Amino acid sequence: MDIKKRIKELCEQIEINNKRYYEDDNPFLDDSEYDMLVSELRGLETKYPEYKNPNSPINYVGGFAADKFSKVKHKNPMLSLANAFNINDLKNFYTQISKITNDNFSFFVEPKIDGLSISLIYSNGKLIKAVTRGDGNTGEDVTENIFQIKSIPKFILDKSEYLEVRGEVYLSKNDFKKINHEKFLNREKLFANPRNAASGTLRQLDSEIVAKRNLSCWIYYYFGNRNFTTHSDSLDYLKSLGFMVNSLSSKANNINDIFLKIETFSKIRNELEYEIDGVVIKVDQLNLYEKIGYTSKVPKWAIAFKFPAEVKITKLLDIVPTIGRTGRVTYNAVLEPVIIAGTTIRSATLHNAEFIISRDIRINSAVKIKKAGDIIPEVIGSIVDNEFFKLPIFEKETQCPICNSCLEIFDGEVDQYCNNENCQGKLIKKLEHFVSRAAMNIEGLSEKIILKLYDKNLIREIYDFYDLYKHRDEIITLDKMGDKLVSNLLNAIEVSKSNSAELLLFGLGIRHIGKKMSDTLLSIFNNIDNLFKASFEELVEISDIGPMGAISIKSWCSVKSNIQLYEKLKERGLNIVYSKMKQKNNNVNIASKKIVITGSLSKPRKYFEDLIKRNSGIIMSSITSKTDFLLCGLNAGNKLNKAKNLNVKVLEENDFLSLVEEENENN
Ligand code: IVH
Repeated sequence: MDIKKRIKELCEQIEINNKRYYEDDNPFLDDSEYDMLVSELRGLETKYPEYKNPNSPINYVGGFAADKFSKVKHKNPMLSLANAFNINDLKNFYTQISKITNDNFSFFVEPKIDGLSISLIYSNGKLIKAVTRGDGNTGEDVTENIFQIKSIPKFILDKSEYLEVRGEVYLSKNDFKKINHEKFLNREKLFANPRNAASGTLRQLDSEIVAKRNLSCWIYYYFGNRNFTTHSDSLDYLKSLGFMVNSLSSKANNINDIFLKIETFSKIRNELEYEIDGVVIKVDQLNLYEKIGYTSKVPKWAIAFKFPAEVKITKLLDIVPTIGRTGRVTYNAVLEPVIIAGTTIRSATLHNAEFIISRDIRINSAVKIKKAGDIIPEVIGSIVDNEFFKLPIFEKETQCPICNSCLEIFDGEVDQYCNNENCQGKLIKKLEHFVSRAAMNIEGLSEKIILKLYDKNLIREIYDFYDLYKHRDEIITLDKMGDKLVSNLLNAIEVSKSNSAELLLFGLGIRHIGKKMSDTLLSIFNNIDNLFKASFEELVEISDIGPMGAISIKSWCSVKSNIQLYEKLKERGLNIVYSKMKQKNNNVNIASKKIVITGSLSKPRKYFEDLIKRNSGIIMSSITSKTDFLLCGLNAGNKLNKAKNLNVKVLEENDFLSLVEEENENN
């Protein structure tokens, strides 16, 4: 192979992809292909430094990963574990080891904690560094955050110069619920499971948040200069130093012992106060580790038995379609109650008609139900021969179950939609969405009350909420609401008029315009009027929005009844201005400024993008007359010319950095 040529090729391909990724938002390689090129280039550059290009993209690659924390190379790589999914995999594991060694060996069986692994380094009895696993070779320095975890000792009696322990940082099921509850009250996106919550918390920049969240850490590995005979002895020692070592772990003499222990763990798993997703089996005799050996990713002396997702069988009593606010039909399973993972399941999702037909799921059939973590239970499929039992085949709805309009399927999609703008099902869902916590957050308007108001003809459209005060007496008689409750309700409706406008925009329920997007759009356009007046080109140019969002806004605005609805909301005094703007704009240097980046800069493109975002600037992909600045590195081309032609201010890297610094100092 011509090494010099290959290095050049790799540099070019990586550069092209970087440009497509960072400038055009359109990479031509997926992440794993990109990683392969980078690692090939890195390997060649190390082996043949004489051919290394001084401007090699490798100089930047490291920075493309999380820049938030500094990088630390692990002294010993942090390996992962091979997985076993059944008894056969475990038997193989055992047989392989028996082939390698004639020595007697036994095992140590531990719960597999569902969290994130951490390496803790102590020197002379002091915790000096804490590093995440990262890619196994290099992790992120999260020492500050680890200091906030009470159960991790900061000082230990072992005064070795170097002592490293590894373990799993986790959140208890209860603390996880508490965090999500708080997030719910603050109308933030919830964590999907305790592992994500633990990982999200540990990778927070603000260690005060970490302190509040009650993370813990089970320790399961020792790297130090003491020579223990067994892994279990090393854990006993760590326990004596004050580390949390899981007391459910125990020795197993043979494969039968291992099976029994796995069985016990799977039975008690739901009662534990933390999540476990399997059981880790390790050879206990440390002197065998080198002999049994390693692959590049995992040790061969340990294996993780993964619990299967919890599956139960029950009878499918009925299939019920529901209509969402966009008109999409979701089919739901009504089930004979069954307990999975400690909760009684009475319904599960069947997604869409395609899902049901492709799995030949039929009413009255026995079906398998799966529940994994906090995810909505799902029907996996039938377990009987439906033909044999002559159960009627499922037929998809052709008409909306609420308004009877014909259901439609958009090109290239599988979901069915009711496209009747006046469908009552959609309307009720839209009303519910408008008042929901994530949108206008009007307390007291439960689904039940909305239905009652609807039945009494008091609401049809969202602006009707703001006329309810005219019907105070009528509402008091509804569902024994009473004077006080109605006053509270009317007051909450009145107060919602002054919500910051991104809540109203989200409440309008425009397709593809979610909560975060609403916020981004209004931080750019300042008020909803400006946003609705923006051209398609202006919208599509904003890098976070993309064509789908832009099309959706433009088509929503092209429907007369939508604009009438918006006007009526304005007539009733709803705020359409982004109130966060005022706080953000106190110190405008780059806040709300539209910025384009071009040329080679001294740090990865992502560094500057993050800096702009953190300072509330808006990154655009191309220069127009509305661009405020061009941040311009070396060897800039077209964009620089265009900026000059359009009189857009050009900032070199240093000018730009001093602008941002000034702003940060002022804050
Ligand atoms: S031992 C070389 N023990 O599971 C030893 N890992 O799927 C490597 N984990 O990366 C780890 N509980 O984050 C070990 N008792 C336990 C564990 C455990 C959870 C995690 C760990 C590892 C992952 C592999």
